Amino acid sequence: MRLTRTCLLVVIASALASSPALAASKAPVRAEHGMVGSTEANASQAGVAILQQGGNAIDAAVAVGFALAVTHPSAGNLGGGGLMVIRFADGRTTSIDYREVAPARAFRDMYLDAAGNVVPERSLVGPLAAGVPGSVAGLAYVHKKYGKLPWKDVVAPAIALAENGVVLTDAMANSLRAAQKLLGRFPESTRIFLNGGALFSRGDRLVQPDLARTLRAIAEHGADGFYKGPVADLIVAEMQRTGGLISKDDLAAYTPVERETVRGTYRGHDIISMPPVSSGGIALIQTLNILEGFALGTFGAHSSKSVHHIAEATRRVYADRSEWLGDPSFFKVPMSGLTSKKYAEALRATIDPQHATLSTAVKPGAPRQYESDQTTHYSVIDAEGIAVSTTTTINGGYGNGQTVTGAGFLLNNEMDDFSAKPGVPNMFGVIGGVANEVQPGKRMLSSMTPTIIAKDGKPFLVVGSPGGSRIITTVLQVVLNVIDYGMDVQEAVDAPRFHHQWLPDELRIERRGFPVDVVKALEALGHKVTAQGDMGDVHAIWVNPKTGMRYGASDPRLDGRTIGY
Ligand code: DON
Repeated sequence: MRLTRTCLLVVIASALASSPALAASKAPVRAEHGMVGSTEANASQAGVAILQQGGNAIDAAVAVGFALAVTHPSAGNLGGGGLMVIRFADGRTTSIDYREVAPARAFRDMYLDAAGNVVPERSLVGPLAAGVPGSVAGLAYVHKKYGKLPWKDVVAPAIALAENGVVLTDAMANSLRAAQKLLGRFPESTRIFLNGGALFSRGDRLVQPDLARTLRAIAEHGADGFYKGPVADLIVAEMQRTGGLISKDDLAAYTPVERETVRGTYRGHDIISMPPVSSGGIALIQTLNILEGFALGTFGAHSSKSVHHIAEATRRVYADRSEWLGDPSFFKVPMSGLTSKKYAEALRATIDPQHATLSTAVKPGAPRQYESDQTTHYSVIDAEGIAVSTTTTINGGYGNGQTVTGAGFLLNNEMDDFSAKPGVPNMFGVIGGVANEVQPGKRMLSSMTPTIIAKDGKPFLVVGSPGGSRIITTVLQVVLNVIDYGMDVQEAVDAPRFHHQWLPDELRIERRGFPVDVVKALEALGHKVTAQGDMGDVHAIWVNPKTGMRYGASDPRLDGRTIGY
């Protein structure tokens, strides 16, 4: 049995014991032309169908994005946001930031009570947790600029899935049932996602006529079909009825931002990833820069020596994340300092190969002096070689739990990704300060790390994952598994994962997969090792540099599917 572990809010510990994540690898999916990997088979199929109709990877990614909004309501979304990295066949790259923004009426201390304490749940459940959604605007923007097929064609598969319904797999039905506590607090969410309270079972058909109507408005009018007119009216009515902040003006003002990708190199590979407002790309490159100085390949995959060095690197990187990362429109992020090889050298020099450093002894560094200045991921590549890496989210599984009445979609609880109060951890246990405090119109810091790696001018790996603050280390480990440890893409995705994020000072490992003597050796080095549930849900595509053949892998931890042709 596999259960959807969409996020902290819907973790079901009992389901994890029999996850096949660590079973012997099967072979990667192999295809000559195009490939789509996502967390849900109907959505992957929708993307491949678009490729086969002559669409490019951008068209396919947009179709997958809308399809996931129907078939994977815990994270796929219209009511959330996302980050997309694109590498064109000629090597140009770009990224689209369609992250949610704080409503104009948001303010720094909105999650604190009169005594200055964080009010439990306020940033997580219900109307005040929701940022202004960005997904529809982002998908419309990227399609208009880089897509090939007509807009209506790429929205069509999602409309069909909403109208005809999807037959619920065991995993989908279990995921919805597990979210009963959250969704049951909202009548409209209960009606749609909890079968009016009777709950759904495997084999039931989830038909979503309200969502289909919303998607039709989007197909007809583009982003205006969501941000203006009847759908916008429904969002604002929902907010007014329940005490939320998102206004008509907030919706009309929402704009996605196209940004230059953040770039690095690692052992002869080009790393192309998401710049701020994600911390992911910078943290990934910073960690790889530190690790480049260690011969990880000779240390061996999952040896205590490898795990120690990687954890010590991420301990330092997450300390910087807490201080130096936020929305670049509001806070000057020292990007080139954080990603500089020289700064990485300085951090590397502080790593003791024989002892874990206490996190209390690690403080955010001084990158400025080096300056020259539940979520889901899907990966797409087309026949021409355009690669698209997209991570999209409503933050927690099923977001803030609240469905916009009459419009059929859930809202996000992305406001929790802001730092509600300096030093107070968010739902992923990460802390932040001024760089990531709430301000009107500001984007909350993300860990999403949609990434593309190129080698010798050709696409090499398309990769990304959900998992909150664990996204960065999950993506990192898939990259290391391929480049340093010589695994094929499925082995790299299957392999057991671990995570250190500075605070809390613990080395978290997946419950299965780490031999007892490795754990003991890590403890002897001074690590506080905690065995917990699965991490991430990776969908990765590796391109054989010699033959161009595409090899895809969906994460065995959940129910995803990679399909190629
Ligand atoms: O943007 C972020 O970093 C988070 N909102 C991602 C949340 C996430 O991955 C939840 N899934 N497990």
